[in-house]
Amino acid sequence: MDSSRQILVCQYTNCLRNGSAAVLAAFQGYSVAGAMIIGCGCQGQCNMGATVRVLPDDTWYCRVKPEDVKAIVEYHLKQGSPVTALLHPRLHPRG
Ligand code: FES
Repeated sequence: MDSSRQILVCQYTNCLRNGSAAVLAAFQGYSVAGAMIIGCGCQGQCNMGATVRVLPDDTWYCRVKPEDVKAIVEYHLKQGSPVTALLHPRLHPRG
């Protein structure tokens, strides 16, 4: 696992309206070695919140709900496999 991952959870207006404070709290409920959870400003994807960005992978998740956090932690942060169903479709086009 990358030892210097940062998980940016947008805490700006539109994302907050879509529950991003609870998403941030859900991430903070897990302890993942080497991963830093950070509440951040607008990431420019406001209509797709709550926006979560994983660095340095530069993986963008959209419309993240608190109940999605477990999958991101288990599959992406611990096993290195992004959760494709939650990826931002414009930033990570499929096929
Ligand atoms: S308000 Fe979250 S991406 Fe802009």
